Amino acid sequence: MADNTQSIQWFPGHMAKTRRKIGEILPLIDAVAEVVDARIPISSRNPEIAELIKGKPHIILLNKCDMADKNVTEEWINFYKAQNIAAIPLDCKNGKGIDKFKTTVKTTLAERLEYYQSKGMVGKPLRVMVVGIPNVGKSTFINRIAGKTRAKAENRPGVTRGNQWFTIDKQLELLDTPGVLWPKFEDQTVGEHLAFTGAVKDRILDTELLGMRLLEILSASYPELLEARYGKLDFECDSYDLLCQIGKKRGMVIRGGETDTERAANMLLEEYRNCKIGLITLERISDNA
Ligand code: G4P
Repeated sequence: MADNTQSIQWFPGHMAKTRRKIGEILPLIDAVAEVVDARIPISSRNPEIAELIKGKPHIILLNKCDMADKNVTEEWINFYKAQNIAAIPLDCKNGKGIDKFKTTVKTTLAERLEYYQSKGMVGKPLRVMVVGIPNVGKSTFINRIAGKTRAKAENRPGVTRGNQWFTIDKQLELLDTPGVLWPKFEDQTVGEHLAFTGAVKDRILDTELLGMRLLEILSASYPELLEARYGKLDFECDSYDLLCQIGKKRGMVIRGGETDTERAANMLLEEYRNCKIGLITLERISDNA
């Protein structure tokens, strides 16, 4: 059996520029909305985010919830609520949850709105910075909420030129992340989970090993979905044998009767990404070390 580990060569991280830009913008915003992928709520975050936003009110948007396990998404929402962080499920592809975002911003920032009013700053909009690692759906979210025209607000005095502000309504303006927030490069599990969802190209990874690693999670958390898709399986074996069983069931056999495990892994990954196996969340609260 193959060695079940692999090292991922990450592109070198350069967070310094983003860190500086966020630091500059922070005094001008009222809250941070962080978009994460509901299927991998741990791996799809930037590890420095809490430190970067320095205690600003924080709203977590569990996007792509149309592809995630609803019960687990609910568990994540309750987990964040218990820490006084507002969290909402979003499906930006179909526009679900957008209105809830607007009301959540206004309730989360109710005190700030009152403060603006008490200072006679009636009409001053709330400014929210949208952050997230690449591919979580930030642009889709902004396009959805800002409408087709992507009403782009003009550059503002005191705000670095080039920052992307969007006027949503009279009470709300959004700012797109100034810079790129990277995931936690050095963690192999993070890399694999981003690859499962397609956020990282699996060209740079060993597909067979990636398929095996995905099967480890699916056979532990969703064995019934695997069997519903591929038929009766013997789970009393390692992930390589499980991949062989699945490949054989799909007729992926090469000379000598062996399974074409690379083809089987490609098929498994593609079917997972297209939700053919089911609505699946790969990371649970108990994984949150
Ligand atoms: P980013 O700005 O954070 O980098 O992400 P972006 O909006 O470009 O979205 C990345 C991919 O995720 C896009 O797919 C987008 O359609 C998809 N996506 C965003 N939000 C959702 C969602 O709530 N549900 C689902 N199912 N998908 C979502 P793509 O394959 O790169 O492009 P395309 O399929 O839209 O052409």
